[in-house]
Amino acid sequence: MSTILAIESSCDDTSAAVLRDDVLLSNVIASQKVHEQYGGVVPELASRAHEQNIIPVVDGAIREAGIGKEEIDAVAFTRGPGLMGSLMVGVSFAKSFAQALGKPIIEVNHLQAHVLSHFCRQDAGAPWNAPQFPFICLLVSGGHTQILLLRSHFDMEILGQTIDDAAGEAIDKAAKIMDLGYPGGPIIDRLAKEGNADAFHFATPQIAGYDYSFSGIKTSFLYFLRDRLKEDPDFIEKHKADLCASIQKTIVDFLLKKVEKAALKYNVRQVAIAGGVSANSRLRSELQRICDKHRWQAFIPPFKFCTDNAAMVGIAGYFKYLKGEFADISLPPYTR
Ligand code: KG4
Ligand code: ZN
Repeated sequence: MSTILAIESSCDDTSAAVLRDDVLLSNVIASQKVHEQYGGVVPELASRAHEQNIIPVVDGAIREAGIGKEEIDAVAFTRGPGLMGSLMVGVSFAKSFAQALGKPIIEVNHLQAHVLSHFCRQDAGAPWNAPQFPFICLLVSGGHTQILLLRSHFDMEILGQTIDDAAGEAIDKAAKIMDLGYPGGPIIDRLAKEGNADAFHFATPQIAGYDYSFSGIKTSFLYFLRDRLKEDPDFIEKHKADLCASIQKTIVDFLLKKVEKAALKYNVRQVAIAGGVSANSRLRSELQRICDKHRWQAFIPPFKFCTDNAAMVGIAGYFKYLKGEFADISLPPYTR
Protein backbone atom coordinates (compact mmCIF):
# COMPACT_ATOMS: atom_id res chain seq x y z
CA MET A 1 0.00 0.00 0.00
CA SER A 2 1.27 3.47 -0.87
CA THR A 3 0.41 6.94 0.36
CA ILE A 4 1.16 9.73 -2.08
CA LEU A 5 1.06 13.48 -1.53
CA ALA A 6 0.48 15.32 -4.81
CA ILE A 7 0.96 18.99 -5.65
CA GLU A 8 -0.41 20.96 -8.61
CA SER A 9 0.58 24.58 -9.29
CA SER A 10 0.92 24.86 -13.08
CA CYS A 11 -1.52 27.72 -13.67
CA ASP A 12 -3.81 29.58 -11.28
CA ASP A 13 -4.99 26.85 -8.93
CA THR A 14 -2.91 25.76 -5.95
CA SER A 15 -3.90 22.21 -5.09
CA ALA A 16 -2.72 19.34 -2.92
CA ALA A 17 -4.13 15.84 -2.61
CA VAL A 18 -3.43 12.66 -0.70
CA LEU A 19 -4.06 9.25 -2.25
CA ARG A 20 -3.88 5.80 -0.72
CA ASP A 21 -3.11 3.68 -3.75
CA ASP A 22 -5.73 4.75 -6.32
CA VAL A 23 -8.18 6.04 -3.72
CA LEU A 24 -8.48 9.75 -3.02
CA LEU A 25 -8.27 10.70 0.65
CA SER A 26 -8.28 14.48 0.19
CA ASN A 27 -8.12 17.08 -2.59
CA VAL A 28 -7.78 20.71 -1.53
CA ILE A 29 -7.91 23.48 -4.15
CA ALA A 30 -7.28 27.20 -3.64
CA SER A 31 -8.44 29.09 -6.72
CA GLN A 32 -7.04 32.54 -7.36
CA LYS A 33 -9.66 35.27 -7.59
CA VAL A 34 -7.03 37.96 -8.22
CA HIS A 35 -7.00 37.37 -12.01
CA GLU A 36 -10.71 38.05 -12.60
CA GLN A 37 -10.30 41.84 -12.76
CA TYR A 38 -7.67 41.43 -15.51
CA GLY A 39 -9.72 39.05 -17.68
CA GLY A 40 -6.95 36.44 -17.74
CA VAL A 41 -4.20 34.88 -15.65
CA VAL A 42 -1.41 37.31 -14.72
CA PRO A 43 1.71 35.13 -14.26
CA GLU A 44 3.42 37.26 -11.61
CA LEU A 45 0.27 37.43 -9.50
CA ALA A 46 -0.23 33.68 -9.94
CA SER A 47 3.17 32.73 -8.55
CA ARG A 48 2.76 35.13 -5.64
CA ALA A 49 -0.63 33.61 -4.79
CA HIS A 50 0.83 30.07 -5.05
CA GLU A 51 3.48 31.10 -2.52
CA GLN A 52 0.78 32.29 -0.14
CA ASN A 53 -1.43 29.24 -0.67
CA ILE A 54 0.94 26.31 -0.86
CA ILE A 55 1.56 25.70 2.87
CA PRO A 56 -2.08 25.98 4.04
CA VAL A 57 -3.24 23.88 1.05
CA VAL A 58 -0.74 21.06 1.68
CA ASP A 59 -1.42 21.22 5.40
CA GLY A 60 -5.16 21.05 4.73
CA ALA A 61 -4.80 18.06 2.41
CA ILE A 62 -2.76 16.11 4.97
CA ARG A 63 -5.15 16.94 7.79
CA GLU A 64 -8.26 16.18 5.74
CA ALA A 65 -6.75 12.84 4.73
CA GLY A 66 -6.36 12.01 8.42
CA ILE A 67 -2.77 10.87 8.02
CA GLY A 68 0.50 11.84 9.66
CA LYS A 69 3.13 13.20 7.28
CA GLU A 70 5.48 10.37 8.21
CA GLU A 71 3.02 8.04 6.42
CA ILE A 72 3.74 9.69 3.06
CA ASP A 73 5.72 7.35 0.76
CA ALA A 74 6.39 9.78 -2.10
CA VAL A 75 5.64 13.34 -3.21
CA ALA A 76 4.29 13.77 -6.75
CA PHE A 77 4.23 17.17 -8.45
CA THR A 78 3.33 18.75 -11.77
CA ARG A 79 6.61 19.44 -13.56
CA GLY A 80 4.98 21.01 -16.64
CA PRO A 81 3.63 22.26 -18.94
CA GLY A 82 2.48 25.48 -17.34
CA LEU A 83 3.62 28.92 -16.23
CA MET A 84 7.27 28.88 -15.13
CA GLY A 85 6.81 31.02 -12.02
CA SER A 86 3.77 28.99 -10.93
CA LEU A 87 5.46 25.65 -11.54
CA MET A 88 8.56 26.78 -9.61
CA VAL A 89 6.53 27.20 -6.42
CA GLY A 90 5.02 23.69 -6.49
CA VAL A 91 8.19 21.99 -7.74
CA SER A 92 10.45 23.62 -5.13
CA PHE A 93 7.97 22.94 -2.36
CA ALA A 94 7.57 19.28 -3.37
CA LYS A 95 11.32 18.77 -3.48
CA SER A 96 12.06 20.33 -0.12
CA PHE A 97 9.10 18.66 1.58
CA ALA A 98 10.15 15.26 0.24
CA GLN A 99 13.74 15.86 1.20
CA ALA A 100 12.75 16.79 4.74
CA LEU A 101 10.76 13.54 4.97
CA GLY A 102 13.53 11.52 3.32
CA LYS A 103 11.09 10.32 0.63
CA PRO A 104 11.34 10.13 -3.17
CA ILE A 105 9.76 12.56 -5.61
CA ILE A 106 7.73 11.78 -8.74
CA GLU A 107 7.43 14.19 -11.67
CA VAL A 108 4.08 14.34 -13.46
CA ASN A 109 3.09 15.80 -16.82
CA HIS A 110 0.00 17.98 -16.36
CA LEU A 111 -1.71 16.73 -19.54
CA GLN A 112 -1.17 13.06 -18.71
CA ALA A 113 -2.56 13.80 -15.26
CA HIS A 114 -5.80 15.25 -16.74
CA VAL A 115 -6.30 12.04 -18.74
CA LEU A 116 -5.37 9.71 -15.88
CA SER A 117 -7.91 11.37 -13.57
CA HIS A 118 -10.32 8.72 -14.90
CA PHE A 119 -8.41 6.09 -12.90
CA CYS A 120 -8.76 7.82 -9.54
CA ARG A 121 -11.38 6.35 -7.21
CA GLN A 122 -13.24 8.92 -5.12
CA ASP A 123 -13.49 6.61 -2.11
CA ALA A 124 -12.62 3.06 -1.21
CA GLY A 125 -16.25 1.96 -1.54
CA ALA A 126 -16.61 3.35 -5.07
CA PRO A 127 -16.89 0.76 -7.83
CA TRP A 128 -13.89 0.59 -10.13
CA ASN A 129 -15.12 2.28 -13.28
CA ALA A 130 -12.11 3.28 -15.33
CA PRO A 131 -11.77 3.01 -19.11
CA GLN A 132 -10.01 -0.03 -20.51
CA PHE A 133 -7.21 0.16 -23.05
CA PRO A 134 -7.26 1.07 -25.82
CA PHE A 135 -9.51 4.10 -25.46
CA ILE A 136 -9.73 7.57 -26.93
CA CYS A 137 -9.58 10.68 -24.80
CA LEU A 138 -10.44 14.21 -25.83
CA LEU A 139 -8.27 16.46 -23.70
CA VAL A 140 -9.72 19.97 -23.65
CA SER A 141 -8.38 22.66 -21.36
CA GLY A 142 -7.56 26.35 -21.39
CA GLY A 143 -4.18 25.59 -22.93
CA HIS A 144 -4.60 22.33 -24.86
CA THR A 145 -6.88 20.50 -27.25
CA GLN A 146 -5.85 16.99 -28.24
CA ILE A 147 -7.39 13.70 -29.33
CA LEU A 148 -5.35 10.97 -27.70
CA LEU A 149 -5.28 7.22 -28.24
CA LEU A 150 -4.33 5.49 -25.00
CA ARG A 151 -2.76 2.06 -25.21
CA SER A 152 -1.58 2.04 -21.60
CA HIS A 153 -1.37 4.55 -18.77
CA PHE A 154 1.59 6.40 -20.23
CA ASP A 155 1.32 5.41 -23.88
CA MET A 156 -0.71 8.29 -25.30
CA GLU A 157 -0.55 8.78 -29.04
CA ILE A 158 -1.63 12.24 -30.20
CA LEU A 159 -4.02 11.60 -33.10
CA GLY A 160 -4.82 15.26 -33.57
CA GLN A 161 -4.53 18.62 -31.87
CA THR A 162 -5.22 22.28 -32.32
CA ILE A 163 -2.96 24.18 -34.67
CA ASP A 164 -3.69 27.50 -32.94
CA ASP A 165 -5.96 28.33 -29.98
CA ALA A 166 -7.16 25.76 -27.46
CA ALA A 167 -10.91 25.09 -27.17
CA GLY A 168 -11.06 26.62 -23.69
CA GLU A 169 -9.17 29.65 -24.90
CA ALA A 170 -11.68 30.11 -27.75
CA ILE A 171 -14.62 29.91 -25.34
CA ASP A 172 -12.92 32.32 -22.93
CA LYS A 173 -12.26 34.77 -25.78
CA ALA A 174 -15.86 34.58 -27.01
CA ALA A 175 -16.94 35.45 -23.46
CA LYS A 176 -14.47 38.31 -23.36
CA ILE A 177 -15.80 39.71 -26.66
CA MET A 178 -19.28 39.74 -25.08
CA ASP A 179 -17.80 41.22 -21.86
CA LEU A 180 -19.16 38.37 -19.74
CA GLY A 181 -16.25 37.94 -17.31
CA TYR A 182 -13.41 35.50 -16.72
CA PRO A 183 -13.05 32.57 -17.01
CA GLY A 184 -15.74 32.56 -19.67
CA GLY A 185 -16.29 28.79 -19.98
CA PRO A 186 -18.56 28.31 -16.96
CA ILE A 187 -20.40 31.61 -17.67
CA ILE A 188 -21.16 30.70 -21.30
CA ASP A 189 -22.23 27.23 -20.17
CA ARG A 190 -24.70 28.72 -17.67
CA LEU A 191 -26.13 31.37 -20.03
CA ALA A 192 -26.37 28.88 -22.92
CA LYS A 193 -28.94 26.86 -20.95
CA GLU A 194 -31.50 29.65 -21.55
CA GLY A 195 -30.65 30.08 -25.23
CA ASN A 196 -31.37 28.57 -28.63
CA ALA A 197 -28.25 26.85 -29.97
CA ASP A 198 -29.51 27.14 -33.56
CA ALA A 199 -30.20 30.88 -33.41
CA PHE A 200 -26.90 31.79 -35.07
CA HIS A 201 -24.60 29.82 -37.28
CA PHE A 202 -20.81 30.07 -37.17
CA ALA A 203 -18.75 28.20 -39.71
CA THR A 204 -16.07 25.75 -38.60
CA PRO A 205 -12.88 25.36 -40.63
CA GLN A 206 -12.23 22.43 -42.92
CA ILE A 207 -9.07 20.98 -41.52
CA ALA A 208 -7.45 17.67 -42.32
CA GLY A 209 -7.40 14.56 -40.14
CA TYR A 210 -8.02 14.95 -36.44
CA ASP A 211 -6.56 18.42 -36.04
CA TYR A 212 -8.46 21.48 -34.90
CA SER A 213 -8.29 25.21 -35.43
CA PHE A 214 -10.20 27.69 -33.28
CA SER A 215 -8.80 31.08 -34.14
CA GLY A 216 -11.03 31.44 -37.24
CA ILE A 217 -14.19 30.69 -35.24
CA LYS A 218 -13.21 33.36 -32.74
CA THR A 219 -12.54 35.89 -35.53
CA SER A 220 -15.80 35.21 -37.35
CA PHE A 221 -17.65 35.56 -34.04
CA LEU A 222 -15.96 38.91 -33.50
CA TYR A 223 -16.80 40.22 -37.01
CA PHE A 224 -20.37 38.94 -36.80
CA LEU A 225 -20.93 40.86 -33.57
CA ARG A 226 -19.23 43.98 -34.88
CA ASP A 227 -21.61 44.08 -37.84
CA ARG A 228 -24.69 43.48 -35.71
CA LEU A 229 -23.64 46.07 -33.14
CA LYS A 230 -23.50 48.71 -35.88
CA GLU A 231 -27.23 48.21 -36.48
CA ASP A 232 -28.18 47.66 -32.86
CA PRO A 233 -25.89 48.68 -29.98
CA ASP A 234 -27.89 46.44 -27.63
CA PHE A 235 -27.52 43.35 -29.82
CA ILE A 236 -25.34 41.39 -27.38
CA GLU A 237 -27.51 42.29 -24.40
CA LYS A 238 -30.69 41.22 -26.24
CA HIS A 239 -29.32 37.97 -27.64
CA LYS A 240 -26.82 36.95 -24.96
CA ALA A 241 -28.25 33.52 -24.24
CA ASP A 242 -28.69 32.63 -27.92
CA LEU A 243 -25.16 33.80 -28.69
CA CYS A 244 -23.72 31.70 -25.86
CA ALA A 245 -25.73 28.64 -26.87
CA SER A 246 -24.77 29.01 -30.53
CA ILE A 247 -21.03 29.54 -30.06
CA GLN A 248 -20.92 26.73 -27.49
CA LYS A 249 -22.69 24.39 -29.94
CA THR A 250 -20.27 25.36 -32.71
CA ILE A 251 -17.22 24.52 -30.61
CA VAL A 252 -18.60 21.38 -28.97
CA ASP A 253 -19.91 19.89 -32.22
CA PHE A 254 -16.60 20.60 -33.95
CA LEU A 255 -14.72 18.88 -31.11
CA LEU A 256 -16.93 15.81 -31.04
CA LYS A 257 -17.20 15.34 -34.80
CA LYS A 258 -13.48 14.57 -34.92
CA VAL A 259 -13.59 12.43 -31.79
CA GLU A 260 -16.35 10.32 -33.34
CA LYS A 261 -14.37 10.01 -36.55
CA ALA A 262 -11.25 8.93 -34.63
CA ALA A 263 -13.11 6.33 -32.56
CA LEU A 264 -14.60 4.84 -35.75
CA LYS A 265 -11.26 4.82 -37.55
CA TYR A 266 -9.35 3.23 -34.64
CA ASN A 267 -12.21 0.91 -33.80
CA VAL A 268 -12.28 2.02 -30.19
CA ARG A 269 -15.47 1.59 -28.15
CA GLN A 270 -14.57 3.64 -25.10
CA VAL A 271 -14.33 7.40 -25.27
CA ALA A 272 -13.30 9.74 -22.45
CA ILE A 273 -13.09 13.50 -22.00
CA ALA A 274 -10.75 15.36 -19.66
CA GLY A 275 -9.56 18.88 -18.82
CA GLY A 276 -11.38 22.04 -17.79
CA VAL A 277 -13.72 22.18 -20.80
CA SER A 278 -14.94 18.64 -20.02
CA ALA A 279 -17.03 20.35 -17.32
CA ASN A 280 -19.15 21.79 -20.14
CA SER A 281 -22.77 20.55 -20.03
CA ARG A 282 -23.19 20.36 -23.77
CA LEU A 283 -19.90 18.52 -24.29
CA ARG A 284 -20.91 16.01 -21.62
CA SER A 285 -24.42 15.38 -22.91
CA GLU A 286 -23.42 15.27 -26.58
CA LEU A 287 -20.59 12.82 -25.89
CA GLN A 288 -23.07 10.62 -24.06
CA ARG A 289 -25.52 10.84 -26.97
CA ILE A 290 -22.87 9.92 -29.56
CA CYS A 291 -21.62 7.02 -27.45
CA ASP A 292 -25.18 5.73 -26.93
CA LYS A 293 -25.77 5.90 -30.67
CA HIS A 294 -22.74 3.69 -31.40
CA ARG A 295 -23.10 1.61 -28.23
CA TRP A 296 -19.78 2.91 -27.00
CA GLN A 297 -19.00 3.64 -23.40
CA ALA A 298 -18.56 7.30 -22.42
CA PHE A 299 -16.23 8.31 -19.58
CA ILE A 300 -17.16 11.70 -18.18
CA PRO A 301 -15.15 12.90 -15.18
CA PRO A 302 -16.81 14.20 -12.01
CA PHE A 303 -16.74 18.01 -12.01
CA LYS A 304 -14.01 18.27 -9.38
CA PHE A 305 -11.64 16.29 -11.64
CA CYS A 306 -12.25 18.47 -14.73
CA THR A 307 -10.47 21.70 -13.87
CA ASP A 308 -6.96 21.71 -12.40
CA ASN A 309 -6.59 19.61 -9.25
CA ALA A 310 -3.92 17.61 -7.46
CA ALA A 311 -5.92 14.35 -7.34
CA MET A 312 -5.08 13.79 -10.99
CA VAL A 313 -1.41 14.45 -10.26
CA GLY A 314 -1.64 11.93 -7.45
CA ILE A 315 -3.09 9.15 -9.60
CA ALA A 316 -0.48 9.74 -12.31
CA GLY A 317 2.14 9.70 -9.56
CA TYR A 318 0.75 6.45 -8.19
CA PHE A 319 1.19 4.64 -11.51
CA LYS A 320 4.78 5.89 -11.69
CA TYR A 321 5.33 4.84 -8.06
CA LEU A 322 4.28 1.30 -8.98
CA LYS A 323 6.92 1.32 -11.72
CA GLY A 324 9.54 2.81 -9.39
CA GLU A 325 9.88 5.87 -11.61
CA PHE A 326 11.30 8.46 -9.26
CA ALA A 327 12.79 11.79 -10.24
CA ASP A 328 16.10 13.39 -9.44
CA ILE A 329 16.06 16.33 -7.04
CA SER A 330 17.80 18.53 -9.63
CA LEU A 331 14.94 18.29 -12.16
CA PRO A 332 13.77 21.72 -13.41
CA PRO A 333 10.15 22.54 -14.42
CA TYR A 334 9.25 22.90 -18.10
CA THR A 335 6.76 25.32 -19.62
CA ARG A 336 5.75 23.38 -22.74
O1 KG4 B 1 -7.85 22.35 -17.28
P1 KG4 B 1 -8.10 23.74 -16.85
O2 KG4 B 1 -8.64 23.98 -15.46
O3 KG4 B 1 -6.78 24.59 -16.93
C1 KG4 B 1 -5.83 24.37 -17.92
O4 KG4 B 1 -5.02 23.43 -17.79
O5 KG4 B 1 -5.90 25.17 -18.91
O6 KG4 B 1 -9.05 24.40 -17.95
C2 KG4 B 1 -9.50 25.72 -17.85
C3 KG4 B 1 -10.45 25.99 -18.99
C4 KG4 B 1 -10.85 27.46 -19.12
O7 KG4 B 1 -10.72 27.84 -20.47
C5 KG4 B 1 -12.31 27.47 -18.71
O8 KG4 B 1 -13.08 28.47 -19.31
C6 KG4 B 1 -12.75 26.10 -19.16
O9 KG4 B 1 -11.66 25.25 -18.82
N1 KG4 B 1 -13.99 25.65 -18.52
C7 KG4 B 1 -15.15 25.47 -19.19
C8 KG4 B 1 -16.11 25.11 -18.21
N2 KG4 B 1 -15.50 25.07 -17.00
C9 KG4 B 1 -14.20 25.41 -17.21
N3 KG4 B 1 -15.45 25.58 -20.49
C10 KG4 B 1 -16.71 25.33 -20.86
N4 KG4 B 1 -17.69 25.00 -20.00
C11 KG4 B 1 -17.44 24.86 -18.69
N5 KG4 B 1 -18.43 24.52 -17.84
ZN1 ZN C 1 -5.22 21.75 -16.74
